[in-house]
Amino acid sequence: MSIRIDILSVVPRLLESPLNESILKRAQEKGLAEIVVHDIRDYTHDKHHIVDEPPYGGGAGMILKPEPIFECIESLAAQRTYDEIIYVTADGEQFTQRMANQFSLAANIIILCGHYKGIDDRIRQKLITREISIGDYVLTGGELAGLVMTDAILRLVPGVIGDGESALTDSFQDGLLDCPHYTRPPEFRGMKIPDVLLSGNHKDIALWREEQRKARTAERRRDLMEKKKEQ
Ligand code: ADE
Repeated sequence: MSIRIDILSVVPRLLESPLNESILKRAQEKGLAEIVVHDIRDYTHDKHHIVDEPPYGGGAGMILKPEPIFECIESLAAQRTYDEIIYVTADGEQFTQRMANQFSLAANIIILCGHYKGIDDRIRQKLITREISIGDYVLTGGELAGLVMTDAILRLVPGVIGDGESALTDSFQDGLLDCPHYTRPPEFRGMKIPDVLLSGNHKDIALWREEQRKARTAERRRDLMEKKKEQ
C-alpha cells in the first residue's frame, strides 16, 4: 500500500526539510509514500509570476489568485483520482486523530496551503472537498499545518513506523493519553522508576500502564474522558 500526497504552496521551500528528514524521508525511500510539492508560481503565465492580488472591496492583505491554483489542481486531477482535496485554513474543521486514520487509508490526497490573507473563494467553492484547521490559532500560512497533517497521516501508513505496534498504542488512538515511559538507568539523581516496571510481570505492567493512562487523561483532559464514556 502506498499513499501519494501533493502539497501546493507559494513557499515550497518551507516544506523541504521536514519532508526530507527522518521518518518521512524513509517512508518515501521505502516507496510507502510519495510526497510531491508543487510551487503554485510554476502555474502562472505572466512575466512576473504573480500569484496574489489585493482583495476586491478593499481591506488589508493579499489573496491568492484562482487561475494558477485551478490549473495546478486540474492538471493533477486529470492524472489520477483524488480521495480528498484539502485546504488547510484556520476556519476549517478541527483536525483529529480520527481524520488522520481515515486519510492514511487514502490513495491520493491534495493539500493546498494558503498564504497571505487567504485564497479566492471560488477555489474553495469549486475544487476543495475538505477544509481543515490544526487548531484555534492563526499561522502565517498553511504550510506548517499541511506538514502537521502529513506527518500525522504518514506515520499511520503500515510500515512507516518500524515497530508496527507503536502507532496503535499512541495517545488518542483509543481516546486515552499515553502512560509515562522510562529507560536506563533505573535510578537517576535520586529518582527511581516504579518498581512494577522491573518486576518482569507483564500482566502487572499492563495493568499499571492502563491505570496511569486513565489517571493522566482524567487529570489533563477531562473532555476526552467524557467523550470515551459517551461512546
Ligand atoms: N492557516 C493559518 N492558520 C491555520 C490553522 N490554525 N490551521 C490550518 N491552517 C492554517
